[in-house]
Amino acid sequence: MTLFPPKHLLSINDLGAEGIDEVCRLADHFTEVSQRPIPKVPTLRGKTVAMLFYEDSTRTRLSFEMAARRLSADVMGFSVSSSSVNKGESVRDTVATISAMGPDAIVVRHRSAGVPQQAAAWTHASVINAGDGWHEHPTQALLDCYTIRDRLGSVSGRRIVILGDIKHSRVARSGVMAFTALGAKVTLVAPATLLPPAVDSWSVDVSSSLDEVLSDCDVVYGLRVQSERQSEALLPSLREYTAQWGLTVDRAARLPAGALVMHPGPVNRGVEIAPEVLDRPNATLNEQVRHGVAVRMAVLYLLLAADPDGQSRGIGV
Ligand code: NCD
Repeated sequence: MTLFPPKHLLSINDLGAEGIDEVCRLADHFTEVSQRPIPKVPTLRGKTVAMLFYEDSTRTRLSFEMAARRLSADVMGFSVSSSSVNKGESVRDTVATISAMGPDAIVVRHRSAGVPQQAAAWTHASVINAGDGWHEHPTQALLDCYTIRDRLGSVSGRRIVILGDIKHSRVARSGVMAFTALGAKVTLVAPATLLPPAVDSWSVDVSSSLDEVLSDCDVVYGLRVQSERQSEALLPSLREYTAQWGLTVDRAARLPAGALVMHPGPVNRGVEIAPEVLDRPNATLNEQVRHGVAVRMAVLYLLLAADPDGQSRGIGV
């Protein structure tokens, strides 16, 4: 039996469908908090959240920091470029050092799959996976579910097309798990070289034609071509990629009315999605970022607000 709430958030599987629903329900409350003149509650006063980011990040890191502060937690920042990592300190020793200062949660991003799982074995703190290599990015999937639920009413029954560099995308892996757990029908669209090797074992459809699936979907979820994770030439050229796999203005015009255009950011405008398409009202990129703060508040609340006797602290005034 899985414990709920879990101690760590390493994978979407730590939550399951009921856990995802619970995060969304809590995020509704924290969205309301975020709209107040003083968008802050005392819920996690006295708790400390440490940020351990070994990889570049703009939105995920700022979003976790803002979420922790809005819950009145203290935040310990960590910048790899100015830390003892540059003197050769291992991840294990770095986690042990941070843990010795007694944080309640450590938010970990690393270029290698599995590092947050390992970190969880080396600390008493709750560990939150903020992206590990090609593996998972659970809070991104949660904020994406929350955005679809907010815009379309529910994730269940929605037809979601995930488009682009799926092979190297932790966002796609966590997204597929979360969307299918909630009852969406997911279709992956990508060149064969950018599909994951084990895609047959995923509960998804796969199509090699964006044009065939466009007119029959509720969401197109675009992904960045993650060149920094590619060790070989998987595409002839970005221009040819855009011609065949890009969400161009012409293709976007064939989407059903009301279909959403989503993307986790950062976007390479004009490569995976045309700039004009990103500026339309059905593109949800900024909403995804905004919802990310409330969703991460919900995650921090779930993991940290249970007292030792198992009772949850109040949600805050
Ligand atoms: C993604 C990531 O880092 O996994 N961005 C994000 O967290 N919003 C996607 C990407 O880098 O393309």
